[in-house]
Amino acid sequence: MKKQLITLTINDQDYEVAITPMDILADVIRREVQLTGTKKGCGEGDCGACTVIIDGKPELSCLKLAIACQGKKIRTIEGIADPKTGELSPLQKSFLDHGAVQCGFCTPGMIMSSTALLERNPNPTKDEIKKALSGNMCRCTGFVLIVEAIEAYVNAKAESGVN
Ligand code: FES
Ligand code: FES
Repeated sequence: MKKQLITLTINDQDYEVAITPMDILADVIRREVQLTGTKKGCGEGDCGACTVIIDGKPELSCLKLAIACQGKKIRTIEGIADPKTGELSPLQKSFLDHGAVQCGFCTPGMIMSSTALLERNPNPTKDEIKKALSGNMCRCTGFVLIVEAIEAYVNAKAESGVN
């Protein structure tokens, strides 16, 4: 299939990529843009490993055509740490501190889904956290530690008075 040049805006940077109309966003992000933090597990919308944030909403990049994402603001796990220092975000640190990361394959998707949740709802309940992560699978941690890490982050932020 003939390739065409399009521009994708990822983590506030424009990338010109040559793709076919059938190319999947997850593949383009990983292969063309070389941002390999976004993982591709099932490739069918079942595992959540490929979650990115598009225009503020968590989306499964394995189900999106890259060509349909022109003009949208895409954020990947690489855009979550401090862009200048590379320091992990407080939420990422909470995942590490609470044993919510083992093999790490699901972690980028978990962080993107929970970041999107916390941006629209800074004080989610446990049920709201579980619901937001219901499309993200983890084979290692048993899920409980991930929810605890997010809760701990929310509680620490409330205690510090920072919103
Ligand atoms: S790779 Fe996209 S949901 Fe599994
Ligand atoms: S940490 Fe291994 S799948 Fe979640």
